[in-house]
Amino acid sequence: MQTPTSHIIVRTPVVESIAELYAASGLSRKTVLLFDENTRKIYGDGIIESMHRQGFLTRELVVPARETSKSLSSAWKLYGKMIETDVDRSWNLLAVGGGVVGDLGGFIAASYYRGIPVVQLPTTLLAMTDSSIGGKVAINHPLGKNLIGFFHLPELVLIDPAYLKSLPSREIYGGLAEVVKYGFISDRNFFDFLKGHFDDITALREEYLTEAVSRSAFIKADVVEKDFREITGLRATLNFGHTFAHGLEKMAEYRHLRHGEAVTIGMACALFLSHRLGYLPEAELTEGLGLIGRFKFPKGVIEKRFLSLDQQELFESMYSDKKKIDRQLRFVLLDRIGHAFLHGENVAKAEVLGAIDDAKRFFRQTP
Ligand SMILES: NC(=O)c1ccc[n+]([C@@H]2O[C@H](COP(=O)([O-])OP(=O)(O)OC[C@H]3O[C@@H](n4cnc5c(N)ncnc54)[C@H](O)[C@@H]3O)[C@@H](O)[C@H]2O)c1
Ligand SMILES: [Zn+2]
Repeated sequence: MQTPTSHIIVRTPVVESIAELYAASGLSRKTVLLFDENTRKIYGDGIIESMHRQGFLTRELVVPARETSKSLSSAWKLYGKMIETDVDRSWNLLAVGGGVVGDLGGFIAASYYRGIPVVQLPTTLLAMTDSSIGGKVAINHPLGKNLIGFFHLPELVLIDPAYLKSLPSREIYGGLAEVVKYGFISDRNFFDFLKGHFDDITALREEYLTEAVSRSAFIKADVVEKDFREITGLRATLNFGHTFAHGLEKMAEYRHLRHGEAVTIGMACALFLSHRLGYLPEAELTEGLGLIGRFKFPKGVIEKRFLSLDQQELFESMYSDKKKIDRQLRFVLLDRIGHAFLHGENVAKAEVLGAIDDAKRFFRQTP
């Protein structure tokens, strides 16, 4: 049976062995490639040429490089192109890009001809360590992000960290937030590795980058495998920092703050909350904040998108998080670095506001 961990390949250059990997997974060499404009421009020719050399028949689809490409209207257009070029159920789809392309490609694959296989070729750090793994695929509705979609596991996730060399630094830090998150929620040893090699990773030193990427991908896959449909609360721990983050993103109109930046701030809030509620010892709080303090934000972003926000408004914005149950805010907390749990009861509003306040003080003092 297909499981989330069984099909993740981390290799450079992965595309050179794609025919072999496809064959081992029982996939046909008839592939629709989905790019965004950037991944098409930077990597498209190289990937397509390599696939042709390996005997693939290909079709090519390109969408604008923005979040609004994850829409029903853009999926609808792409279905049309696929039908017109005789793509049938014997084909599969290869999504080459960040989370936008991965989610849209997965959505199209899950629905086209009642479902064709999808292969993910993630090219952002976020996609390599998070969005390409776990089979959640979705498009946005005008009333909310990621509301329309499927669970559609990829047949293969082909991770090649060399693609990150062209990624802007802001996107590296954004993805790194999720990487650090895995250390916080499930692996103390990985946290120590990230602490020790943070600068090696942000400098994209191959050895450390590859290790960070592959350990993250396998942690996510392992969590997903143990709790695929989010029943036991384990998969929910992947939302560490995200209750705060979703409120912040909403207030930034999903435009002025990258998801990973919101998660970085959100994790600081969640660490403070874990400490305030008596779960996380002071020394671990300090250690956790030490790593968060090393993240870089573009000038003015922290000030404008966090420090200057009204506490009350942020609190209300967090309430619109779709993960709330019966209008209760659910928080993922730590009782130590390397272990998270889903807090069952309602947390007093004063404690949430207090944690936001603590985090503001922390970021004000961080150079
Ligand atoms: N399905 C899931 O489980 C899941 C999880 C987390 C996030 N997501 C989704 O992921 C999306 C965000 O993904 P993202 O952060 O990867 O953003 P993205 O896909 O928008 O990519 C960010 C930018 O980087 C560019 N880019 C991609 N690869 C590049 C490369 N190698 N070199 C240079 N530029 C490159 C893209 O063109 C884009 O401009 C959101 O829509 C979010 O909802 C999904
Ligand atoms: Zn996230």
